[in-house]
Amino acid sequence: VETLFDELKRYVGWTADDEAQLRALHAACAPHFDHIADVFYQRILEHEGARQALVGGESRVGQLKITLKAWMDKLLSGPWDEEYYELRCRIGRMHVRIALPQHYMFGAMNIVRRELNLIVDELHATDPQTLRASRAALGKILDLELAIMLHTYREDLLAQQSRSERLATFGQLIGSIGHELRNPLGVIESSLYILESRVGEDERARKHTRRIGEQLRVANDIVSALLDMIRDRPLQRAPVSLDAALSSVLTAVNPPEGARIIPEGIAGLPTLNGDPGQLRQVLLNLVDNALHAAGPGGEVRITGRVDGGQVEIAVEDSGPGVDPDTRRRLFEPLITTKAKGIGLGLALVRRIVERHGGQVSYAPREGHGARFLVRLPLPAAQ
Ligand code: HEM
Repeated sequence: VETLFDELKRYVGWTADDEAQLRALHAACAPHFDHIADVFYQRILEHEGARQALVGGESRVGQLKITLKAWMDKLLSGPWDEEYYELRCRIGRMHVRIALPQHYMFGAMNIVRRELNLIVDELHATDPQTLRASRAALGKILDLELAIMLHTYREDLLAQQSRSERLATFGQLIGSIGHELRNPLGVIESSLYILESRVGEDERARKHTRRIGEQLRVANDIVSALLDMIRDRPLQRAPVSLDAALSSVLTAVNPPEGARIIPEGIAGLPTLNGDPGQLRQVLLNLVDNALHAAGPGGEVRITGRVDGGQVEIAVEDSGPGVDPDTRRRLFEPLITTKAKGIGLGLALVRRIVERHGGQVSYAPREGHGARFLVRLPLPAAQ
């Protein structure tokens, strides 16, 4: 079966001669990798939009130059096989993950192209035939690189699209079930009210009416959460202090016995521009989940920092973490590991964060436990 990489190579007319040309170029180009990496990042730093995408700020540039040199090394030495393709996809997904706009890729690749072409031109100035073959090989591999990068953006877009399609179908279903359930629940509630006034002193009967009342509230809360999930309430934007939002969340949660909550660096975060109620809901769901996972005597750490044009909030717990199978579908509705959960908390978190132009992701915590990372754009970056 032809792989996608094989198909792309077939399209650009990739041959063994191209491979030989690139390998021959490697020795001549390697001494210039430092210079090319400098020019590459200089251009990014000069451009305010591209600079914004530098997660970790300019301090990361030194490390990124090293990875770019390794990238050029492999570009010209191959082997240009499936492993190469997978590696390049992983790099592409990194750019997708940091929400780097894909249009910068063309300008960035052009710098690499121009710098390498200058070396080729000089190297083969007296041999037009090799010059043409060399330039052609370089053109092919750089186009393949761009194609792979765009493929990873497309992959992400398709995943988002299928998620929102699933959510739309799910939304219609939930909407009608939710509304249909409201009526019978209302009838049960009013009948319970009448019954309660008639059970008198019968302690066992009172215990049962109390139970019915409790479960009624649980059922009503589930219906409300479902309807909240599908209702596309417009964002009521206002200045949001994450510190105030977290304080309000901490008064609302119910930590298990002996569990500790440790906020760090939240108080110093800049004010965001978002929907205060919805962003509080994001924190509430994450902290509530983390406390549940941490359990009695466990620990939940909430840290915040500014990173590039974004605020980054990490919610970590000392619980068991999320197993790889669940991880893949963690933010989808109805996925839950809680005995009593219905799996809407994280789906709602993602929906709210994305509507604010941010991202939420999961990574295992160092050692053990879970770590949820929310990134939200600062007002200047919106
Ligand atoms: C031809 C275009 C590009 C190439 C070949 C390239 C290459 C790479 C490579 C090899 C990595 C992986 C680093 C690692 O293994 O840790 C990477 C990551 C990264 N790149 Fe690029 N890059 C390109 C364009 C850009 C542009 C235009 C920007 C931004 C302004 C950018 C910003 C970053 C950042 C911030 C990371 C780190 C992501 C993370 O740690 O999650 N890149 N890039």
